[in-house]
Amino acid sequence: MQADENASCLQTDLSSSSETFRVLVGVTGSVAALKLPLVVSELLQLPGVGVRVVTTEHAKHFYDPADVSVKIYSDKDEWEVLWTQRSDPVLHIELRRWADLLVIAPLDANTLGKIASGICDNLLTCVVRAWDTSRPLLFCPAMNTAMWHHPITSQQVSRLKEFGYVEIPCISKKLVCGDEGKGAMAEVSTIISVVKQYIQKTDESSQKT
Ligand SMILES: Cc1cc2nc3c(=O)[nH]c(=O)nc-3n(C[C@H](O)[C@H](O)[C@H](O)COP(=O)(O)O)c2cc1C
Repeated sequence: MQADENASCLQTDLSSSSETFRVLVGVTGSVAALKLPLVVSELLQLPGVGVRVVTTEHAKHFYDPADVSVKIYSDKDEWEVLWTQRSDPVLHIELRRWADLLVIAPLDANTLGKIASGICDNLLTCVVRAWDTSRPLLFCPAMNTAMWHHPITSQQVSRLKEFGYVEIPCISKKLVCGDEGKGAMAEVSTIISVVKQYIQKTDESSQKT
């Protein structure tokens, strides 16, 4: 009975008809996850845009869910809340069906490495692994500058680009850890403007058909 109610809540959450473009925000365990509330509130300013969040467990350390006005999905929802029997919905598949665009902001070194090698051991990486590659997937790396300059980083970023994913490059600045250099997540305004470009592209192609 509880499983039925949970499935019904999910269907309700993912079925708003007023949303004309659906953005799924992935958030990972970088200190830049502090900016999740701002990313979400800026996206919600865009007309017709619906937003949901998929978080890793480590990302939860960096933001207060009370500051985020949309549903945040995490591993618990996939494993403990939703799926109990064969007929129940599988959350990572429902979310990839729901979303028109996935933006992972921030993408930390750990999840970058996992995505580059196809690992899917949590809700976010399962959404990515199941992603419909005809839809945009944007990623915003964010890590300490020493991590950024490790030779594996550029290999993994290139791999993601080979998959067709779009990098929103990190920037140089004084990082929260005190180091200075490349590795900071792109400014939120940059991320929002790239998302807007993809919304416009989708509008233009739907007007043509
Ligand atoms: C305070 C703190 C800040 C961190 N910031 C970053 C970061 O900016 N980028 C990064 O790649 N890892 C960072 N890490 C390490 C990640 O949180 C760690 O690799 C974690 O396993 C990531 O898990 P996830 O990818 O599942 O979210 C940080 C760790 C701590 C404790």
